[in-house]
Amino acid sequence: MLAVTAARFDANDPLAALEVGEQPEPEVPEGWVVVELKATAVNHHDLWSLQGVGLRSEQLPMILGCDGAGVDPDGNEVVVHAVIGDPDAGGGDETLDPRRSLLSERHPGTLAERVAVPRRNLVPKPPSLSWQEAACLPTAYLTAYRMLFTRGGLRPGDTVLVQGAGGGVATALVALARAAGLRVWVTSRDTGKRERALELGAHRAFESGERLPAKVDAVMETVGAATWSHSQRSLRPGGTLVVAGATSGNDPSADLAQVFFLQRSVIGSTMGTRGELERLISFCDATGVRPLIDSVRPLADARAGFARMAEGEQFGKVVLDI
Ligand SMILES: NC(=O)c1ccc[n+]([C@@H]2O[C@H](COP(=O)([O-])OP(=O)(O)OC[C@H]3O[C@@H](n4cnc5c(N)ncnc54)[C@H](OP(=O)(O)O)[C@@H]3O)[C@@H](O)[C@H]2O)c1
Repeated sequence: MLAVTAARFDANDPLAALEVGEQPEPEVPEGWVVVELKATAVNHHDLWSLQGVGLRSEQLPMILGCDGAGVDPDGNEVVVHAVIGDPDAGGGDETLDPRRSLLSERHPGTLAERVAVPRRNLVPKPPSLSWQEAACLPTAYLTAYRMLFTRGGLRPGDTVLVQGAGGGVATALVALARAAGLRVWVTSRDTGKRERALELGAHRAFESGERLPAKVDAVMETVGAATWSHSQRSLRPGGTLVVAGATSGNDPSADLAQVFFLQRSVIGSTMGTRGELERLISFCDATGVRPLIDSVRPLADARAGFARMAEGEQFGKVVLDI
């Protein structure tokens, strides 16, 4: 089958480690099923994998991809939940299973014509969502859903700041937060992306690092070192900083005095549970909110989609049709 793999690692030039070509059909362990994929989407996670983050060389070639939607062996239209974990081992939450992994970390991923997943990881796709929209949900949108509503505990009327407006998770945060009745502020380095964030539903858009007119109830952070101190400065006393990524660097100053003196909460968040994915899909179905798609191209042209993400040119999700 056709698949996109990390054939090697290249920390400086991830695209040099990418290959698009024939790979063996998936192996199917007991209790797993094969999904015929219809669409998939690229995440920054795939770039990290090409750079050697989270994979060992003996696992190569590894089929990339965490996002996918397709048809199960019984002919049902499904969204694929990307977290491979045991809820019982995580106190009812598979993301807290110490042995949990994402598709493409231990098991082959979704940038392929077919993927094998545990039967539990199939979630029904409503007819109201296209294949391309459904394929955007399992990673960036699920992460955004959990950041806002589970970990962030945000309620209608709260003000939230989203850093790095153009990213896949960031656009998901803006779309979901707006649909849920939050006041949504964003930052971006790029004028065009700020304008597009306003079109997407943000109430205000600021330059990265710009002083805000008021403090916010919560900040959603995936940019990391480049925006961390601005995130701290922007938060009201007692506010919440939810962090799910660190694209620009992992190790900013913690500024502990800001954390304790102003009694802020710094909360980590990763992916989401199957139940949260079901609620996210229901939320999209009920409100009409849809994933923002940057571009669509065939799986065979995956390299061009990866290049767009590596250059930070995307606004929304880079989708691949299968
Ligand atoms: N924990 C989880 O479960 C989880 C799930 C999904 C993603 N993530 C992580 O979250 C991060 C974002 O993922 P993604 O797929 O949304 O990536 P992405 O689409 O590549 O977005 C990255 C965004 O970060 C901003 N950015 C990058 N470098 C910056 C810098 N130096 N200064 C200011 N802004 C910068 C850019 O926004 P502007 O160009 O608008 O400024 C860019 O659009 C990644 O690190 C990813 O690994 C974690």
